[in-house]
Amino acid sequence: MAKRHSARAGTLQAIFIRLEELVLANSGEDEFEEIFKLIVAKLWDEMNEATARFNALGSPEEIAARISLLLSGAASTWPGILEAGTESRLTPSHLKICVEALAPYSLHGAGFEVMDAFFEFLVSRGSKGNKGQYFTPRYVIEFCVRMMQPSMNELVVDPACGSGGFLVHTLDYVRRENMPSNKKLQNYCNDFLWGFDVDARAIRVAKALMILAGDGRSNIVHLNSLLKPVAQTALFDTSQTDGKNSRSITIEDVCRTRRRAHKGFDVVLTNPPFAGEVREESVLSSYDLGRSKVRVERDVLFIERCLDLLRPGGRMAIVLPHNKLSATSTGDLRRWLLTKAQILAVVGLGRHTFLPHTHQKAGVLFLRRLAKGEKPVSDYKIFFGVSDKDGKNSRGELSFKDDEQIADENHLSIWDRVDHDLTEIESAFHKFCNQEKVILGDSNGRMDN
Ligand SMILES: C[S@@+](CC[C@H](N)C(=O)[O-])C[C@H]1O[C@@H](n2cnc3c(N)ncnc32)[C@H](O)[C@@H]1O
Repeated sequence: MAKRHSARAGTLQAIFIRLEELVLANSGEDEFEEIFKLIVAKLWDEMNEATARFNALGSPEEIAARISLLLSGAASTWPGILEAGTESRLTPSHLKICVEALAPYSLHGAGFEVMDAFFEFLVSRGSKGNKGQYFTPRYVIEFCVRMMQPSMNELVVDPACGSGGFLVHTLDYVRRENMPSNKKLQNYCNDFLWGFDVDARAIRVAKALMILAGDGRSNIVHLNSLLKPVAQTALFDTSQTDGKNSRSITIEDVCRTRRRAHKGFDVVLTNPPFAGEVREESVLSSYDLGRSKVRVERDVLFIERCLDLLRPGGRMAIVLPHNKLSATSTGDLRRWLLTKAQILAVVGLGRHTFLPHTHQKAGVLFLRRLAKGEKPVSDYKIFFGVSDKDGKNSRGELSFKDDEQIADENHLSIWDRVDHDLTEIESAFHKFCNQEKVILGDSNGRMDN
């Protein structure tokens, strides 16, 4: 069964590889951009069945004219995904080859997971893992969401949202748990799901995946999440951003304009980049963990920033490199955290989890920001878990459960079939919460607001 799914995911990938050989590699154009435009044009065409213009009928020039119309329709419906005036840069005859290959394929019919896997494939070919721009494995994301159990009236944010994995899985979790009407779900997406990322391409992928997941209007914004309202200096060179003003807009600015009385997020779910340092004095000086330092690792600043973004009493799951969770050299960071938060759980992930992108071993930290006036407690129980089944082999390929282990395969997603033990860890954590009277969910600390 797993094989059938990977073959389906592979079909679109196989089309891409064929197109790459036939057309894209020799076009002189950015392969990601050109294929992304075609995917979005096709998505838009599929959503407007009456038109069915994504087909290879007619001359190359006629096909190019229809694609142009589809792109302009998609750009006006989904402004954050394509800019107005976007055109394919492929020649009409190259375009015809691409359209012929893609036209028979139903993107909606393929299902969300197949498209998600295809975007991961596409992004990983275009950007290198060393920039920390790889996708978080979806079964790890699902685990984090289930551990934190966001409810439908809680604001969820991912300040390093990449392809939007945490947002899409939160949407899926909330949908499964609450079975809301379409209208309620739309309102939930519009008001409660927030994502930010400094990478413009990641933002476009996140928006496209949100459309496939059933919503196109969530708050996914291109900006540098590490900038606080006080720090106005650019963190990165302009090659990493495409918006002229995006570097000085902060998350707080966006929240203030879109929500009248924003008092922080209820839940942060995130996987900040494992690599990279920040050296800008103006930025470092706005962080407790950066003040009077000449450079600080990005993930360390992200930890503080995520705590900042939470309302008092709010909770967070953050994927971090192992050294932040256990190395002697990061002891100060953990001591600082204990003054700000109650640590709920620490879960070590298997060593293959982030392959093939990085060999770095990682874990997930789950915590609750202390409520206003709440004093840190010096002695309390923390849940510790270690995953022994990575869900991947040493080449970074997903490993799937045997068919016998899959009880009701028709109702399982690809991610449910991955052979990992995070579900058992999640059950043990919730048992621990019951025993220790740890309350998750929206009753916790809401009166602090
Ligand atoms: C490991 S990836 C997150 C992957 C994401 N969870 C997913 O599944 O696609 C880390 C992300 O952090 C983003 N990032 C790095 N520095 C950032 C910053 N200063 N502000 C916002 N996003 C940042 C990167 O662009 C990248 O998309």
